Amino acid sequence: MICQKAKKIPPFHVMEVLERAQELERNGRNIIHLEIGEPDFPTAPHICAAAASALWSGETKYTHSLGLARLREAIADNYNSKFKLDLKPGQIIVTSGTSPALLLVFMSLLEQGDEVIMSNPHYACYPNFVEYSGGKPVFVHTYEACGFNLEPYAVAGAISSRTKAILINSPCNPTGHVMPPESIRGIAESAGDIPVISDEIYQGLIYNGKDHSILEFTDNAFVLNGFSKLYAMTGWRLGYLIAPEEYIRPLQKLQQNFFICANSFVQHAGIAALEGPQEHVREMLDIYDKRRKFILKRLRDIGFGINYEPEGAYYVLANAKSFSPDSLELSGRLLEEAGVAVTPGIDFGDGAKGYLRFSYANSIENIREGMDRIERYLKTSR
Ligand SMILES: Cc1ncc(COP(=O)(O)O)c(C=O)c1O
Repeated sequence: MICQKAKKIPPFHVMEVLERAQELERNGRNIIHLEIGEPDFPTAPHICAAAASALWSGETKYTHSLGLARLREAIADNYNSKFKLDLKPGQIIVTSGTSPALLLVFMSLLEQGDEVIMSNPHYACYPNFVEYSGGKPVFVHTYEACGFNLEPYAVAGAISSRTKAILINSPCNPTGHVMPPESIRGIAESAGDIPVISDEIYQGLIYNGKDHSILEFTDNAFVLNGFSKLYAMTGWRLGYLIAPEEYIRPLQKLQQNFFICANSFVQHAGIAALEGPQEHVREMLDIYDKRRKFILKRLRDIGFGINYEPEGAYYVLANAKSFSPDSLELSGRLLEEAGVAVTPGIDFGDGAKGYLRFSYANSIENIREGMDRIERYLKTSR
């Protein structure tokens, strides 16, 4: 018998859309993929070479549960030089992607019924991580009219005696919003003794202004980050957690029990990603920015509402209410009838009801074709 907790967990809709799109493709349909948050670029050759060389030189055993010392140093150096910090490698745990890091942090913080404040819309999986760890998500709505910014006063208003953490995510999935530094500071100040968990997986993927980390504003924070997005390494499964030093030992025990360690040769690839040339990252960023401008114009021309400027990650959360109040139904029709895969807003909480999330991690040619198909379809189906 499957337990109630497992029965209750909702699907990750974007994966369901992707899997249905792949099924259609196996049956000969041509589908344009604008659903998945996955870079279409290959991982850079020097990163692949580092992994291959690690494999051939026998780096195929378990590593230290906290990760390779050199990778932890490279991560600390990276944050220290970018944000003028004084992080120690001893504050870092290397994980098999950001997702296990999320699980570690909630498992180490939450007692039954403890609350975690997060935005709505939010990354689809956050509430599921929290609930599976015994906690209760408390949602603070963010609005298109305010660029989907998570406002410090609204977060302060949601704090209760049960609040165990405040979760932020900038640049944000699904909105592409980048929080201004004053909002991050404001949240850090309102949090007081409550730790802020900052998912910085889209760090570096910003098209205007400067990157920020929660660690510039408070030490009472957990940072989640990884190699999937910036370095186009989704399938490698490599991420990390930065935590206050006193949490490392309990987190290490969870890691030892549940995951043992991250993949050994993949950790060598992570060192190459951080220490090697960054030109390929700048090139990808330039291309994403061109696609961002292109898709924004096309979506607005088609009639989607986008009254804010998504300036980070590679997502646009577009208001589709003039086409349908039901984003799940609309995304289903766009896939089945127009051959374009997009993610229903409902995946990201009821705050994104009636919205569709478009990922522009695809070529301009494919985005153009996807927009043409959607435009034709919506004109004829209204
Ligand atoms: C906001 C956010 N956090 C975490 C993840 C998980 O990333 P990873 O591939 O590192 O597990 C994703 C993936 O899409 C994401 O969008």
